[in-house]
Amino acid sequence: MAFGSIMRFNAGELSIEMAPLSRDVMGEFIRPGMQSWTVTKYLVTQAKVLEDEYEWYDKTRTDDTSLVWGIWIIGADDARELIGTSSLHHIERGLFFSAGSGSLIFNAEYWGKGIASAAHKARTWYAFHVLGIDRIWSEVLQGNEGSRRALEKSGYYVTHVKRNDKFVDGTLKHADQLECVNPDPAPWKRWWGDDRPTKAAREARVRAHAAMEWAAQNVVCP
Ligand SMILES: CC(C)(COP(=O)(O)OP(=O)(O)OC[C@H]1O[C@@H](n2cnc3c(N)ncnc32)[C@H](O)[C@@H]1OP(=O)(O)O)[C@@H](O)C(=O)NCCC(=O)NCCS
Repeated sequence: MAFGSIMRFNAGELSIEMAPLSRDVMGEFIRPGMQSWTVTKYLVTQAKVLEDEYEWYDKTRTDDTSLVWGIWIIGADDARELIGTSSLHHIERGLFFSAGSGSLIFNAEYWGKGIASAAHKARTWYAFHVLGIDRIWSEVLQGNEGSRRALEKSGYYVTHVKRNDKFVDGTLKHADQLECVNPDPAPWKRWWGDDRPTKAAREARVRAHAAMEWAAQNVVCP
C-alpha cells in the first residue's frame, strides 16, 4: 500500500492531481510550509527540517496501514506545483473496515479555494468505492473552521468532543471527533445495525452520497 493511485479533478479554476510522492520532492514541504506556525498550529507536529521529511517519506513508503497522496496544482503548461498531502491512515480490517484521514495544504496561498473540499471528496470516493472501507474517522481542533467545513462537505459529522486537546493561540482547544460512514446500504446497515442513526448522521449521509456522486462524475483515474 503506502501511496494511493493518481486522481485528477478540478477545484474551481484549478486543475488538481493527487498522486504518489517521491523522495526528491520532500524539500518542497519546508519552505516555509512545515516551518510556518500558521500552517502547523492546528497540527500535532512542530516545525520540520529536511531530514524529518525524508524520515517521514521513508516510513510512509513502507507503511501498509496508510495510503498517502501528494496534492499538485497542474498549470496550463503542465507545470506541477506540490502544495500538500492527503491521507488515509490506521487502515484496519477489524470488526469494521476503517481508516483515519488527514490532510494538509502547506502553501497557505492556496487556502480557501475549495482544494481540500474537492480532494476530500476524491479521497472519500477512493476509500469507499475503490477500497470498500466502511467508516472513516478524523479529528479537528475547534477553531480550524476550514478543516471541519471541508470534511463536512464530504459527509463527515461530529460525533463527540475530546476536551483540552492542544494549546493553541493562548488557549486550550477541544478536538472535534468526526466520522464519515459509507453511505451505501450494506455498510450503512452494518454500522448502525438496529439503532436509529442520529439526525446529524442522516444529514451527513446525504452529503456523503452527493460527494460520491460528484467524485464519480469529476474524478479521473488514469
Ligand atoms: C484545513 C485546510 C486543509 C483547508 O483547506 P482549504 O483548501 O483551504 O479548504 P476549502 O477551500 O475547501 O474550504 C472548505 C470550507 O471552509 C471554509 N474555510 C476555509 N478556510 C476557512 C477559515 N480560515 N475560516 C473559516 N472558514 C474557512 C471555506 O469557505 C469552505 O466553506 P464553503 O465551501 O462553505 O465556502 C487548510 O487550511 C490547511 O491545510 N491548513 C493547515 C493544516 C491543517 O489544519 N490541516 C487539517 C488538520 S485537521
